[in-house]
Amino acid sequence: MVAQPPVSTDSFWMPFTANRQYKAEPRMLVAAEGMWYQRHDGTRILDGTAGLWCTNAGHGRAAITRAVSEQIHTMDYAPPFQMGHPPAFELAQRLVGHTPEGLNQVFFTNSGSESADTALKIALAYQRARGQHQRTRLIGRDKGYHGVGFGGISVGGMGNNRRAFPVQLPGVDHLPHTLLPEAAFSRGMPEQGAHLADALEDILALHGPENVAAVMVEPMAGSGGVIIPPRGYLQRLREITLKHDILLIFDEVITGFGRVGEAFAANRLGVTPDMITAAKGLTNGAIPMGAVFVSDTIHEAFMQGPEEAIELFHGYTYSGHPVAAAAGLASLDIYEQEDLFQRALELEAYWEDALHSLRDLPNVKDIRNMGLVGAVELEADDKPGARGYRVYRHCFWESNALVRCSVDTIALSPPLIISQDEIDQLVAALKKSILAAA
Ligand SMILES: Cc1ncc(COP(=O)(O)O)c(C=O)c1O
Repeated sequence: MVAQPPVSTDSFWMPFTANRQYKAEPRMLVAAEGMWYQRHDGTRILDGTAGLWCTNAGHGRAAITRAVSEQIHTMDYAPPFQMGHPPAFELAQRLVGHTPEGLNQVFFTNSGSESADTALKIALAYQRARGQHQRTRLIGRDKGYHGVGFGGISVGGMGNNRRAFPVQLPGVDHLPHTLLPEAAFSRGMPEQGAHLADALEDILALHGPENVAAVMVEPMAGSGGVIIPPRGYLQRLREITLKHDILLIFDEVITGFGRVGEAFAANRLGVTPDMITAAKGLTNGAIPMGAVFVSDTIHEAFMQGPEEAIELFHGYTYSGHPVAAAAGLASLDIYEQEDLFQRALELEAYWEDALHSLRDLPNVKDIRNMGLVGAVELEADDKPGARGYRVYRHCFWESNALVRCSVDTIALSPPLIISQDEIDQLVAALKKSILAAA
């Protein structure tokens, strides 16, 4: 018997949710502290997903609460167009201390979707600004997720995200995804699959490389099923894009801020793109905020132009919002003081062993991991996604753990403060639920 939630579930149309199914069995979270959520019936739930890849420093961080509260008190809002305030400039300056070399400019947004669309717009505007007006084509990747704006769904490669929206950006092609059956149960980055980057040359040959503005990929695809980049694959993409003078954009909305053991996957993998998109961990999930990190070369092309402001006529009412910026600064303080990105790297081996201990459970088809990201892919039932949902549901109600399911892949991305003991608890909870769902 499911305890009744403390509020009516009538009017909130929940995003990405089977609303009718949810209302029949509302899963309500009412409080959070450290590694733990609390259910509305008081049960503690181990957070195996950092909310939604957001709370890398864990929940309820007092320093963030304080910074947000002080900033609202000092100045709650200021217009971001033709008017500045210190927190946004300070945050931008602090952030570029963590980006790969040469990415020293920050355009603030409010979400990952806005970051993706902003990066695509900067790419198109940059090509114009440097006189390459014909470079209008964009290239994404199958199973890629770049949020829900029209740019993001067009360049992204998720069928369900597009099906109901027939109007999309023209001139977009997709690389093949890199999830190969022969790489199943790879520990960390798979050895197989770097050759798939060469498909970019085929697409370029088809349309003429001189017509392509940018390639956008997640270094590690999250929503498409946690797809770890094959060793050498991103290096190859970088080589080809450089050869043809095409921009490379990494969507690091989930890999940013320590998730894979460095500030960004780009740093960890030693591949420097021309732009990086971010959100989520930027404020530890406490206040909505996104960002695009842009290379000096791109930025300079705009600054040289005669009418710099209208060459990228773009922005949001809440770009660099002072309260979000305060949350971002306080989050960075925690990440730096507690060395959390390094902590993720140091826990990687323990995490990997713990996850791969599930290999012989029934219906386990693949296990993937990198940094503090993990995925257990299950064999589909008759109906794709049904087994994944059963495990997800069982985890929440019976094993007291929050995991995420993308069809039949259970994804894990705990806060980077997780202890070895909590890793064991999380994996034991998942084991119990996989067995129950078998
Ligand atoms: C890689 C990636 N890009 C973009 C987004 C969209 O972010 P938002 O939901 O904040 O718009 C997400 C969300 O999960 C994501 O994983």
